[in-house]
Amino acid sequence: MSDAQKSGDVPSRLAKPLMVGNHVIANRVFCAPMSGVSDFPFRARALAHGAGLAVAEMTVASRVGEGTSRDTLRRAFPDGSVRIIQLAGRDPAMMAEAARFCEAEGAEIIDINFGCPAKKVTGGLAGSALMREPDLAARLVEAVVSAVRVPVTAKMRLGWEAGAHNAPAIARLAVAAGAQMITVHGRTRCQFYQGAADWSAVAAVRDAVCVPLVVNGDIVTAADAERALALSGADAVMVGRGGYGQPWAAGMIARAAGAARDADRPPLTRPALADYVIAHHQDMLTLYGIGQGIRHARKHLGWYIDRHAPHTPPELRTALLTTHAPQEAALLIWQVFHDAQALAEAA
Ligand SMILES: Cc1cc2nc3c(=O)[nH]c(=O)nc-3n(C[C@H](O)[C@H](O)[C@H](O)COP(=O)(O)O)c2cc1C
Repeated sequence: MSDAQKSGDVPSRLAKPLMVGNHVIANRVFCAPMSGVSDFPFRARALAHGAGLAVAEMTVASRVGEGTSRDTLRRAFPDGSVRIIQLAGRDPAMMAEAARFCEAEGAEIIDINFGCPAKKVTGGLAGSALMREPDLAARLVEAVVSAVRVPVTAKMRLGWEAGAHNAPAIARLAVAAGAQMITVHGRTRCQFYQGAADWSAVAAVRDAVCVPLVVNGDIVTAADAERALALSGADAVMVGRGGYGQPWAAGMIARAAGAARDADRPPLTRPALADYVIAHHQDMLTLYGIGQGIRHARKHLGWYIDRHAPHTPPELRTALLTTHAPQEAALLIWQVFHDAQALAEAA
């Protein structure tokens, strides 16, 4: 019996395990793939805090075999988690080869990206551009499914533009080609990130396919997650930018639903938060090397400040976001998240 049941709360559907192919996913709150954000240190934290699944950043299929350290790092996972990687591309043979490579490397689920709106991806006519080429999208799924034994899934938007919501049709084709889970971000490609995600519009995909469906877009809180689930009829939710500055966001939604009771708690006190940010920063430096790591880490530091230390004096913020020295960065993180907050609270 779960803690939620013992305490009389009825666990939400989000707390239940979900089967994806042969994998049992512990709960139904997932961390979204975000290039340049959801790297190994971020995903390891999201999973430790209780996210059911954390999808690796997109890898471009044509680059998979190059084995650059950056691309290999994109696909690393902590032990014990379900290793779900994501591929983007538009050449079925190349996608199949990339999928085989990733499976041999340890991937346990392969997701195909039909949702990325970035011009450098759609300009190459992959990502969400494939929503304008349903037959090719289906052939890509077919090619990857035939190439590997692990489950294949697909992530998409509602369609290319308003009035052309073809996610139900693409999802149906993808499932007929062997896809075992579909994720839908409730916006069109032309919206990029404007407007609000339309969770109700995802319901048309629910009507189209029977495999697990994941609703995504603008889900930050437990209330958002329950509402998105109810309006879409989906089986699971996926949290992206809601995790900026709080890698525990997905895990906290899972916990509120009655799952992830043994997972790491978020750092709630000032010293715990300062230590947490220092450790996350250090992990990024270890992964990327000092020069690249310190630049990469700045966006995360900015998000941590915006969310938890919004009253940081501008000169302290600038000092932290411009330093090139790891030890100084650690010192400044402590000042921002511990000392300056203590002063702000005392004022
Ligand atoms: C910085 C950034 C990078 C992203 N990279 C990917 C990616 O690699 N693959 C993908 O399928 N979606 C990617 N996305 C889209 C997210 O997975 C998600 O669908 C979108 O942000 C909407 O969810 P949210 O409102 O919870 O952020 C990215 C989004 C952002 C903001």
